[in-house]
Amino acid sequence: MTAAANNAAKQTVLSAVQTTNNLHLGNYLGAIKNWVNYQDTHDCIFFAVDMHAITMRQNPKQLHENTYQAIATYLACGIDPKKSIIFVQSHVPAHAELSWVLTCHSTMGELSRMTQFKDKSAKNQSSSKGEDSIPTGIFTYPLLMAADILLYGTNLVPVGEDQKQHLELARDLAIRMNSSYPSDGFDIQKVPHGTKDPHALFVVPEPLIGKVGARIMSLQNPEAKMSKSDPTPGGAVFLTDSDGDIERKFKRAVTDSDTEVKAESQSDGVKNLIQIQATVTGETYDAVLNKYVGRGYGYLKVDTGKAVASAIAPIREKTAEYLRDRSHLDQVLKAGREAATARAEKTLNEVYKRVGFVRQ
Ligand code: TRP
Repeated sequence: MTAAANNAAKQTVLSAVQTTNNLHLGNYLGAIKNWVNYQDTHDCIFFAVDMHAITMRQNPKQLHENTYQAIATYLACGIDPKKSIIFVQSHVPAHAELSWVLTCHSTMGELSRMTQFKDKSAKNQSSSKGEDSIPTGIFTYPLLMAADILLYGTNLVPVGEDQKQHLELARDLAIRMNSSYPSDGFDIQKVPHGTKDPHALFVVPEPLIGKVGARIMSLQNPEAKMSKSDPTPGGAVFLTDSDGDIERKFKRAVTDSDTEVKAESQSDGVKNLIQIQATVTGETYDAVLNKYVGRGYGYLKVDTGKAVASAIAPIREKTAEYLRDRSHLDQVLKAGREAATARAEKTLNEVYKRVGFVRQ
């Protein structure tokens, strides 16, 4: 079997992380670490999301650096350009182009119901300016994300819980477009209910919510997901942090007012530490829990900090190495852009044709 035929038989997995800041432990354990494993069994596409990043105002120099940093981190974590397509979102114009077509097939209502939009606009809204303080980009954000996914015939999208609703929208749009624009000679109105167009425009994607490590919480506020914009310093562990920083952040992690680990139930903070240690060491949650039952929280914090530091150290060092050789990174990105563009253009061309645009 040729490599291409082999790939055609595999399901396509696509995922991405925003380049708003340095990547953190939650991005690694919840996303990138799992992506690495799909490379041998799936047709994989991973990219750095810079176009979504500008939905919030960015420092241009920082955004530029963070994009390289994200790609270097993907490589350092084991995403292999020989196995996967790796690229930067803005390098493939088809994302913006399809996003417009999807915009014209979506409604204000469905976008208004997106919880991430509601949360972000609530945070952004200053009482004096009202809706004038909500950037349109955070409203249309899920349409660009749908375009990201639908351009590549994606079957599976590994995402966190927080992105599930966006994926639902991508599915709705795919189904809506497929029935609005059936292939030539296939009239969806005239065939028995439920019959699928064998040449449907889009593959309808499924979410792939990881079992372990899907939700790494803040070390300072364990009710909230670990996030680059954690307001409390020390809440997020970055993949660029030194061993000392990592160990210190874990020593200061918020637990609860008890002192020792209990077998029956654990607070969010304690659960998070156990979950993190289990995910980096590959042990089960219960195996880690059993080591600490009846012992003070300090042991759990120190050991987890050490385990995380030793998992992150090689990633930090390799990322720095990749960053020192920009021309190599640029070569990787060029190959990724070409491969992604070839695939995306095919889909976009079919969309334009079916919508009725004159093609030359
Ligand atoms: N919105 C995603 C996040 O914030 C990032 C993203 C953009 C994405 N496009 C995507 C994830 C396509 C998966 C597939 O995490």
